[in-house]
Amino acid sequence: MQIVIQPDAQAVARYGAAAIIRQIRQHPASVLGLATGATPILLYQQLITAYQHGEVSFQAVKTFNLDEYIGLAATHPQSYRYFMQHHLFNHIDIQPENTAVPEGDAADPLLACEQYEQKIMAAGGIDIQLLGIGRNGHIGFNEPSSGLRSRTRIKTLTQQTIADNARFFAPGEYQPHLSITMGIGTILDARKVLLLATGKAKAKAVKAMVEGPLSASCPASALQLHQQATVVLDEEAASDLEQLAFYRHIEQENAALLRRLNRD
Ligand code: PGA
Repeated sequence: MQIVIQPDAQAVARYGAAAIIRQIRQHPASVLGLATGATPILLYQQLITAYQHGEVSFQAVKTFNLDEYIGLAATHPQSYRYFMQHHLFNHIDIQPENTAVPEGDAADPLLACEQYEQKIMAAGGIDIQLLGIGRNGHIGFNEPSSGLRSRTRIKTLTQQTIADNARFFAPGEYQPHLSITMGIGTILDARKVLLLATGKAKAKAVKAMVEGPLSASCPASALQLHQQATVVLDEEAASDLEQLAFYRHIEQENAALLRRLNRD
């Protein structure tokens, strides 16, 4: 795992957006895995700005989102399809048919899960998967106890996740407790993984992911098995890490090496 520590959330978003833009410039027909939640919003704003300045085009890009609530139609303002349209897709030149979000209102959600996996495979797999992390260590909606090799399937949300996301729903509004989510195995199949975490509320989960044992109790710890996982943190999210000084040292050493090789 490469640990990158940035001063604040804006810098985390800049770092993450630069990695995605680099990927698309190298491979214009890249397949991106995308995430929802508060964390990636700033990164999406950076991508929109880069597109508006002509620095990147999404014409040939395909995307697959991590997850979706079961029981919300794509037009529901709390659905993740709606979130993606609002925060990214409506503002860039991506082809609508190239954007995939699990179908939360599918007549047969079990079949929808299988078809989602097949669609990812047919696209050639995910080149770079963007992730946030829940306070309980979830990635996508893979809550604690999720199988470390799981595939896209239906997952029940924990009370903590439901409470964390309640702020997005009006009082008294129906809030789903089931989701369709890519599995941990699906996520681990991505060629690169880019996880962003910001704020003190994430510090404990970040520590468990990076320094804890590999365990289904912290689904994000499965990224310890990934060959190219980059974890981008702001100072607050990094603040519980025991080996913080060492991670900063590695970053400096890596940067110096890349400069020497003229690869920075
Ligand atoms: P957040 O959610 O970005 O809204 O904190 C992250 C997640 O639950 O994966």
